[in-house]
Amino acid sequence: MPLPDPRPVVVAALRAAGCVFAEDEAELLLAAARTPGELADLLDRRTRGLPLELVLGWAGFRGLRVTVEPGVFVPRRRTEFLVGQALAQVPGASVVVDLCCGSGAVGAALADALGPVELHAADIDPAAVRCARRNVARYGGQVHRGDLFEALPDGLRGRVDVLAANVPYVPTGEVGRLPAEARDHEPLIALDGGADGLDVLRRVAAGAAHWLAPGGRLLVETSERQVPTALAIFGDSGLSARVAVSEEWSAHVVIGTPGFSPPAAPAR
Ligand SMILES: C[S@@+](CC[C@H](N)C(=O)[O-])C[C@H]1O[C@@H](n2cnc3c(N)ncnc32)[C@H](O)[C@@H]1O
Repeated sequence: MPLPDPRPVVVAALRAAGCVFAEDEAELLLAAARTPGELADLLDRRTRGLPLELVLGWAGFRGLRVTVEPGVFVPRRRTEFLVGQALAQVPGASVVVDLCCGSGAVGAALADALGPVELHAADIDPAAVRCARRNVARYGGQVHRGDLFEALPDGLRGRVDVLAANVPYVPTGEVGRLPAEARDHEPLIALDGGADGLDVLRRVAAGAAHWLAPGGRLLVETSERQVPTALAIFGDSGLSARVAVSEEWSAHVVIGTPGFSPPAAPAR
């Protein structure tokens, strides 16, 4: 006799646990489980609050399955906009750096779209470095561990076409108000950007001009509220800056290139 379809029970359990997209999540859990026992285990972990991506072990990002591991920032769909902007700005990029790489999703997506590139990713957190190595290996990417630019090989100075840096940008006072999935499962160093959320961005902007190739771009994600300050920081760092906005994703990406001009007004 065929076993009863587990879907309704899985959907009901997910819904009762507060999962907004219960049907979609149920399909993913059902596809991931090879046995009823595995399904019960996945469902148990999800309904106890583990982020879906950590239950599955991967996150979807620009059509890729990016491996995610416990203690590593889960790449957000919103950040796909940053990748799209980098590709639009420097379509022929041959040297790409994913600074503050976390899982390496941004670098992997850039390399996937660009074809053969010299790809470097870097993060201060050893768990992120380990995870990123798994995601960029297929593109021949190298992952370095260390504090921002200190991690990068000197030979990259002046050669970087795309410097993508999805830095932590949550103001310290707002970290406690993040959804529990972020607060409880992602490391503070991946979230907390200091008093105004822009501490790491300031340091990245200050160093970027030494690493960018002529015509290269620095791309950083911020919140809408942070855009005016971020533009001013880029300008103070000798970068000509503009902002790109995606209403669809509520994403704001500040884009800078070496050579000063006064910060432009937000373009939509
Ligand atoms: C918001 S997460 C973004 C991760 C990834 N880029 C993404 O979009 O999914 C920020 C990352 O910055 C890293 N980080 C924070 N401070 C750093 C520093 N001083 N040097 C290098 N990495 C840093 C964290 O470990 C974390 O992985």
